[in-house]
Amino acid sequence: MDRVMVVVALMAVAAVCLRLPAVARGQLQVGFYNTSCPNAESLVRQAVANAFANDSGIAAGLIRLHFHDCFVKGCDASVLLVSANGTAERDAAPNKPSLRGFEVIDAAKAAVESSCARTVSCADIVAFAARDSINLTGQAAYQVPSGRRDGNISVDQDAINNLPPPTFTAQQLVDRFANKTLTAEEMVILSGAHSVGRSFCSSFLPRIWNNTTPIVDAGLSSGYATLLRSLCPSTPNNSTTTMIDPTTPAVLDNNYYKLLPLNLGLFFSDNQLRTNATLNTSVNSFAANETLWKEKFVAAMIKMGNIEVLTGTQGEIRLNCSIVNNRSSVGIEMAHYNPGSTAFINEVATN
Ligand code: HEM
Ligand SMILES: *[C@@H]1O[C@H](CO)[C@@H](O)[C@H](O)[C@H]1NC(C)=O
Ligand SMILES: *[C@@H]1O[C@H](CO)[C@@H](O)[C@H](O)[C@H]1NC(C)=O
Ligand SMILES: *[C@@H]1O[C@H](CO)[C@@H](O)[C@H](O)[C@H]1NC(C)=O
Ligand SMILES: *[C@@H]1O[C@H](CO)[C@@H](O)[C@H](O)[C@H]1NC(C)=O
Ligand SMILES: *[C@@H]1O[C@H](CO)[C@@H](O)[C@H](O)[C@H]1NC(C)=O
Ligand SMILES: *[C@@H]1O[C@H](CO)[C@@H](O)[C@H](O)[C@H]1NC(C)=O
Ligand SMILES: *[C@@H]1O[C@H](CO)[C@@H](O)[C@H](O)[C@H]1NC(C)=O
Ligand SMILES: *[C@@H]1O[C@H](CO)[C@@H](O)[C@H](O)[C@H]1NC(C)=O
Ligand SMILES: *[C@@H]1O[C@H](CO)[C@@H](O)[C@H](O)[C@H]1NC(C)=O
Ligand SMILES: *[C@@H]1O[C@H](CO)[C@@H](O)[C@H](O)[C@H]1NC(C)=O
Ligand SMILES: *[C@@H]1O[C@H](CO)[C@@H](O)[C@H](O)[C@H]1NC(C)=O
Ligand SMILES: *[C@@H]1O[C@H](CO)[C@@H](O)[C@H](O)[C@H]1NC(C)=O
Repeated sequence: MDRVMVVVALMAVAAVCLRLPAVARGQLQVGFYNTSCPNAESLVRQAVANAFANDSGIAAGLIRLHFHDCFVKGCDASVLLVSANGTAERDAAPNKPSLRGFEVIDAAKAAVESSCARTVSCADIVAFAARDSINLTGQAAYQVPSGRRDGNISVDQDAINNLPPPTFTAQQLVDRFANKTLTAEEMVILSGAHSVGRSFCSSFLPRIWNNTTPIVDAGLSSGYATLLRSLCPSTPNNSTTTMIDPTTPAVLDNNYYKLLPLNLGLFFSDNQLRTNATLNTSVNSFAANETLWKEKFVAAMIKMGNIEVLTGTQGEIRLNCSIVNNRSSVGIEMAHYNPGSTAFINEVATN
C-alpha cells in the first residue's frame, strides 16, 4: 500500500467514526423516538394538558420535578422511585411533601406503554412533561433532545446533598450549579422558574420568624413580611402554601426578576441573586428583556436536561416509573412484571 492509499484509508475510518450515530457517542437527540414511538411526545403532552386542565399548578410541579431529577444522580428518573421504608429521593425533605406531578408522569407512562411497550424512558417523559408545562404556562414550544435511560438507585441523602436549599447564599448557589456544569448566569436564568408555583411555609419561615419573634430582613419588604406572617404563624399549618410570584403565579414570565428589586423575592436564595453584582446584572437584564430571558431559559433547561444522563445500553427503560424492573423480566418479557411491588427497590437501595 503506498502512502496515499494509507492516508485515504485513514480518512475513510475517520469519516465513519464521525458519522457514528449520536446514540453511540452517548448523546441525546431531538426526535429519538421518531421511528420507535412516533407519538410518544404527543401522548405525554396530552397527559400533561389533561392534568393542567384540572389543576394548572401541576405545570410548576412538573418543571421542578425535572430539576430535582437532574440534580440528583442525573436526569434518570431516580426521583420517581419509591422505597418501602421511605428512604428514596422523593422522601427527602427537599421533595416531601412539596414535590408534585408524580401521577401525571404515571398517566403519561401508561399512555406511552400502551402505544409502544418498553420503549420510552421515564426520564424522557419527565423531560417532555417539563417542556410541555413550560409551553402551557406561556413559552413557545421547543424541541427537547431525548434518549435518556432510567437509573436504578434512589437514596434520600443524595437529594439533600445535591439540591440547593432556600437558605443558600449566592456563592453556595453558584457552587452547587457549577457542580452540575451550570454557570452562574444559568443559575440566575433557571431561578426564573420561580415565576410559577407555590411554596409551603417551611421554605421561608426562617426569613420571617426567629422562633416566635418577627425578623427584620432587609431583603424582604416589610409589608410582604407582615402578610406572610399572618399566613404562616411561627408554628404554621403544614398544608398552607403561597404563590412564589404573587403577581402572575400561573404565568412563566420575567416577573420574578422585576419582583426581586422590590424586595418581593419569596426565598432568601431568591434575594441572594441581588447581593452579588455579577448575578444582579443578569437579574436586571432579564427584568428589562423578557424575550432574552425566555431564549436563555429554554437553552438552560435543555442543558440541565443533559446532566449526567444515562444513554445507549446504560440503565434501563423502566416499565413502571416508580419501581425498577424486575431482574428476571429484563430483556425477556413482561410476564413477571408486578406493578404493585416495591420489594425490588429495597433490594437495590442496599447496594
Ligand atoms: C437556585 C436554587 C433554587 C432553590 C434554592 C429553590 C428552592 C425552591 C423552594 C424552597 C421551593 C418551594 C418548595 C416548597 O413548596 O416548600 C421551590 C419551588 C419551585 N421551584 Fe425552585 N429552587 C431553586 C431552583 C429552581 C430551578 C432551577 C427550577 C427549575 C428550572 C425551580 C423550579 C421551581 C418551581 C417551578 C417551584 C414551584 C413548585 C410547585 O409549585 O410545585 N427551582 N424552589
Ligand atoms: C426526528 O424528526 C424530526 C423532524 O423531522 C427531526 O428534526 C429530527 O432530527 C429527527 N430525529 C431523529 C433522531 O431521527
Ligand atoms: C385534580 O386536581 C386536584 C388538586 O387540585 C387533585 O387532588 C386531583 O386528584 C386531580 N384530579 C385528577 C383527575 O387529576
Ligand atoms: C405552545 O406551543 C404551541 C405549539 O405547539 C404554540 O402554538 C403555542 O403558542 C405555545 N404556547 C405559548 C404560550 O407560546
Ligand atoms: C460535584 O461534586 C462531587 C462530589 O461532591 C464531585 O465528585 C464532582 O467531581 C463534582 N463535579 C463537578 C463538575 O464539579
Ligand atoms: C434569634 O434570637 C436569638 C435570641 O434572641 C438571637 O441570639 C439570635 O441572634 C437571633 N437569630 C436571628 C437569625 O436573628
Ligand atoms: C390546616 O389547613 C388545612 C387546609 O387548609 C385544614 O384542613 C386543617 O384543618 C388545618 N390543620 C390545622 C391543624 O389547623
Ligand atoms: C407540622 O410538621 C411538623 C414537622 O413534621 C410537626 O412537628 C408539627 O406538629 C406539624 N404541625 C401541624 C400543625 O400539624
Ligand atoms: C459574585 O459571584 C461571582 C460568581 O460566583 C463571583 O465570581 C464573584 O466574586 C462574586 N462577587 C462578589 C462581589 O461577591
Ligand atoms: C443591583 O441592581 C440594582 C438596579 O436594579 C441597583 O440599584 C443595585 O445597586 C444593584 N446591586 C448590586 C449589589 O450590584
Ligand atoms: C431583547 O433580547 C432579544 C433576544 O436576545 C433581542 O433580540 C432584543 O434586541 C432585545 N431587546 C432590547 C430592547 O434590548
Ligand atoms: C443498576 O444499574 C446498573 C447500571 O445500569 C447495572 O449495572 C446494575 O446491574 C443495576 N442493578 C440492578 C440491581 O438492576
Ligand atoms: C431502608 O431500606 C434500605 C434498603 O433496604 C436500607 O439500606 C436502609 O437502612 C433502610 N432504612 C431504614 C431507616 O430502615
